[in-house]
Amino acid sequence: MDKKEKILEIKDLCMDFQSGRKEKVRALNHVTLDIYKGENFGLVGESGCGKTTLGRTVIRLYNPTSGEILFNGKSISGKLTKSDRDYITSNLAMIFQDPISSLNPRMTVEEIISEGLKIRGMKDPAQCREVVNNLLNRVGLLPEHATRYPHEFSGGQRQRIGIARALAVKPSFIIADEPVSALDVSIQAQVINLLMDIKKEMDLTILFIAHNLAVVKYFSDRIGVMYFGTLVELADADELYDHPLHPYTKSLLSAIPLPDPLREKDKQRLYYDPAVHDYSTHQPRLQEVRPGHFVYASDPEVEQYRKELEQGK
Ligand SMILES: Nc1ncnc2c1ncn2[C@@H]1O[C@H](COP(=O)(O)OP(=O)(O)O)[C@@H](O)[C@H]1O
Ligand SMILES: [Mg+2]
Repeated sequence: MDKKEKILEIKDLCMDFQSGRKEKVRALNHVTLDIYKGENFGLVGESGCGKTTLGRTVIRLYNPTSGEILFNGKSISGKLTKSDRDYITSNLAMIFQDPISSLNPRMTVEEIISEGLKIRGMKDPAQCREVVNNLLNRVGLLPEHATRYPHEFSGGQRQRIGIARALAVKPSFIIADEPVSALDVSIQAQVINLLMDIKKEMDLTILFIAHNLAVVKYFSDRIGVMYFGTLVELADADELYDHPLHPYTKSLLSAIPLPDPLREKDKQRLYYDPAVHDYSTHQPRLQEVRPGHFVYASDPEVEQYRKELEQGK
């Protein structure tokens, strides 16, 4: 990417959930990352590592425990006024993992999409109808679908409705939270391609969340890897695939099936054991091992990673 203008800055973000009377779950552990305008940022990690929490905290469905979030340089992590809320809802839209439960079953498609238009202040019914039809058309649905209810559609079509709903506010930033995980493999690519085409047309920035590195491999500019609430590695997509450093990233990569069955047969699946790190004397933190390539590591580990890179491993 030529110009690197930050659109989203997440600084030292922590999010705790109360799980028992005294216990809490730290879903986000000092997460720091920037997302550049126009990029496609892939965020991966296994189920329960905090990906959804990150998305939901950014759009302020949750109040962060600590840390800061800036959008276009404006803080959106503190106490919000009505106008701050409007600013967030009109700029950041989220597409949810489960297109069935995220669409209100009692609302028609037109009503669902129109909610976003109301946020934009559009009230004229004829105008709303026209925009709804344009949006339906854009996501590959038909005008007659407007009066139907979500249960009348297939999973892929429902996710198209979810995309139309997200686009209705004319956002500049979309958080797509595992948008294809619940869909048949055969239609996953269609929905991803649709999103990528729309991204280009509308000049969007996308945070694409997935639990599987294979999904984000082909279209992400940069990729962040999370493990138990901690961002453990962050790099350009190619760099991450060619030179993974954190053992957790290596284990995720080893889980991607190879196209060549013979190589696949002999491939070694790696498993990550957090006990490999000795943090008794040197504490880990997110460190830049080479330009743009960050790893959560202690100083001795960084030294070892740099050697690994020099040897071209
Ligand atoms: N609303 C909530 N209340 C309590 N705990 C939660 C809530 N949402 C998420 N968690 C916990 O936070 C952790 C991260 O969850 P989540 O962000 O959903 O992970 P992911 O999206 O990566 O699967 C998990 O341990 C989960 O149980
Ligand atoms: Mg999730």
